[in-house]
Amino acid sequence: MSTLFADEPSTRPTAAPGPDTRILGIETSCDETAAAVVAGGTRVLSSVVSSQVDLHARFGGVVPEIASRAHVELLTPVVAEALVEAGIDGDGVDAVAATVGPGLVGSLLVGVSAAKALALVWDVPFVAVNHLEAHLYAAFLEEPDLELPLVVLLVSGGHTMLIAMEDHGRYRLLGQTLDDAAGEAFDKVARYLGLGYPGGPAIDRLGATGDATAIDFPRGMLDAGLDFSFSGLKTAVINHVRKHPDSDTADVAASFQEAVVDVLVAKARRAAAEVGAKGLCLGGGVAANSRLRERFLDVCEEDGLRGFLPSRSLCTDNAAMVAAAGWWRLGSDGPSPLDAGADPNLRLG
Ligand code: KG4
Ligand code: ZN
Repeated sequence: MSTLFADEPSTRPTAAPGPDTRILGIETSCDETAAAVVAGGTRVLSSVVSSQVDLHARFGGVVPEIASRAHVELLTPVVAEALVEAGIDGDGVDAVAATVGPGLVGSLLVGVSAAKALALVWDVPFVAVNHLEAHLYAAFLEEPDLELPLVVLLVSGGHTMLIAMEDHGRYRLLGQTLDDAAGEAFDKVARYLGLGYPGGPAIDRLGATGDATAIDFPRGMLDAGLDFSFSGLKTAVINHVRKHPDSDTADVAASFQEAVVDVLVAKARRAAAEVGAKGLCLGGGVAANSRLRERFLDVCEEDGLRGFLPSRSLCTDNAAMVAAAGWWRLGSDGPSPLDAGADPNLRLG
């Protein structure tokens, strides 16, 4: 392997990022090709997201090879649009941050390679960003003064985690799913019910018209610690529909959604109590779910917790959160070496 860039933090040493430091963020970990320019870690000057949902829908899920090819085609125009929207060109970018993991390796490599190339050409630092940390930073884009410690419920297609954020860059994993992620359960159940892909928004819409008390689906591990399990619930839905083929699909969707939300909300409030958190925050694609958002705010009010819900566009994958996390990382760790690779299994902390 080439050692050309080994131990070389960046081509140009930088001062710590300040309120005007403009970071170009790049996100290609799964099926969204995204670029954004964020100033000072919180001011979004532009945020462009090109979703590949239509390309993957006929397969009922993300096809890794199709995703990475689409990133190759889409990334250049998406970055160009982000710069135009921000009213700057390469000269106005102070650093380039990209998601290096976790995610699909082929997809990650497209964004990471592009970010490093741009950092070299523009002679600015490259910043490697953890996708999970980026989801945590979505909240700070809208609420820069969120008080710590904070408990974050991170629920996406690949992850379901409860994280204590004790300080910037200091995290403790309190619990996580032992099998399916919550978003994966939404997607699989939606596919079984014939609702298409992605399943979360489809169940959200249909569930709003159904009776959430119609079917008493199991609440996996409800009283057991802070870990989650959703695969039993998915099987219970399939068994129910097989036994009762005439069930109203809206009632099934609403009852399934209620079971997921019950568990997520119960564990999040338990985690906040255990940690003595000042606030609770939601992140990840499933945080766009209407019923989860409603119940989450109710619980925060009941428990006297500051509840924070990023807007839907910041919950799902985007590059503004990558730029925000990159701003903090640049301040704490400095530029990342240009030989830092993509890591599909990257963990938090
Ligand atoms: O964070 P994200 O955009 O990508 C990953 O990093 O996984 O999350 C995507 C997941 C998908 O499983 C999708 O079905 C789910 O978030 N999702 C939702 C909703 N919108 C997106 N799940 C439930 N209700 C929604 N409204
Ligand atoms: Zn994500």
